[in-house]
Amino acid sequence: MGDAVTMDKIVSLCKRRGFIFPSSEIYGGVGSTYDYGHYGVLLKTNVKNEWWRAMLQDRDDVVALDSAIIQHPRVWEASGHLAGFTDPLVDCRTCKKRFRADHLDQLQCGQKPSKHPGEGPDCDLTEARDFNLMFETTVGPVKEEGATVYLRPETAQGIFVNFKNVLQFSRRKPPFGIAQIGKSFRNEITPGNFVFRTREFEQMEMEFFVPPDDRDTWFAHWLAERERWYTELGIRPDHLRLRAHESDELSHYASGTSDVEYLFPATDSVGGAARWSELEGIANRGDFDLRAHAEHAREKLEYVDTASGERYVPHVIEPAAGADRATLAFLVDAYDEEELESETRTLLRLHPKLAPVKVAVMPLVKKDGQPEVAREIYADLRRRMQAEYDEGGSIGKRYRRQDEIGTPWGVTVDHQTLEDRTVTLRDRDSLEQVRLPIDGLGDELERRLRAAWRSPKLA
Ligand code: GAP
Repeated sequence: MGDAVTMDKIVSLCKRRGFIFPSSEIYGGVGSTYDYGHYGVLLKTNVKNEWWRAMLQDRDDVVALDSAIIQHPRVWEASGHLAGFTDPLVDCRTCKKRFRADHLDQLQCGQKPSKHPGEGPDCDLTEARDFNLMFETTVGPVKEEGATVYLRPETAQGIFVNFKNVLQFSRRKPPFGIAQIGKSFRNEITPGNFVFRTREFEQMEMEFFVPPDDRDTWFAHWLAERERWYTELGIRPDHLRLRAHESDELSHYASGTSDVEYLFPATDSVGGAARWSELEGIANRGDFDLRAHAEHAREKLEYVDTASGERYVPHVIEPAAGADRATLAFLVDAYDEEELESETRTLLRLHPKLAPVKVAVMPLVKKDGQPEVAREIYADLRRRMQAEYDEGGSIGKRYRRQDEIGTPWGVTVDHQTLEDRTVTLRDRDSLEQVRLPIDGLGDELERRLRAAWRSPKLA
């Protein structure tokens, strides 16, 4: 099966079907800031819930945290972000645009978009200088008297500064992890590629604290676990890879990092090429963060075994993912087109667990008592799963709409339903339709939702 997807098609489907659209659109939009509509919220929530499930339910060595976005400014001094969380920036004196100096080969010149910055005859780039990505704001009602604080650029530091609390109150000992999902903010020089790189985004991060000697084993464990998470939720394995960072790519805190990368498609069907890009970074952070906070806060951040008296500063393995990037990758990987009855059927072959709506209930016609029975079925199913009732337009159009938002199953009420209380159940991927009694429909759908699923794009 060919891959019909391009980024332009994803952006257009997201807008058309109300998944994601530009923020503050009626005021002309704010560059690279997006709002999630109904189906986008449902999809991203499912992605986050599956992450929580993998961290908290499928294992018993990780606990949850929700720390503040605005933290003590010294947190960022200790973490190294104030001094070192920078990207190299260049200005073009001709077009007055700013570019990330290390991404010039991916960016477009302000005057000649077919060329990269610096390649046009009139390009006049400055020397690169460091630009700190943290957003600053002031705490307190009077700006001049207030203290400067920062919107967190990662959720991770909220975890490190709570290490002692969690150790005490959740009675944990290494190896154990602390997981958090929340918004982070970075004043990116060149955001772009839809929700791939924005200035406000959600992270799903987990810091796993281990005895120093065990760090390599746990690093390998988390690489395998995180790769499995994406493929079990439907990402095609040949579109996913692990790539170890070169030593000059490593962050200031990491002694080793591997990225989970996804093969994102070209922007449109004529230009650009597919590109491997980071979905998640898995870092071996050593004891950098706990030692730095211990020193700056003058607190002991270590594990002490009360029985043996052994004490040590745990090392940290960190799988750090982006909820928006993961959502984008799941959308891209699910997008498909096929010819059906001489029309193009566009559909999202999402894993049923991720699909925003699990089942649509539709009367074939809007009369003869069919809407009443359909509403009865809908009322029953929506108590068990995200369901939608749809009676507007031809049945073909309603199926197309549900296909485009990735609804895996459609239940249709027709004249026969009124005679024998059976309905047809349509499968989004195979288009197979089976007739089933209304009683037992909810159980059947729950069974299907629990069953293993494999992307039909892999067939
Ligand atoms: N605590 C480590 C850390 O923050 P990172 O690689 O900078 O590591 C982790 O970020 C993940 O957060 C990335 O792999 C990506 O999925 C997501 N992310 C980072 N910057 C982003 C941005 N500007 N827009 C959207 N997602 C972003």
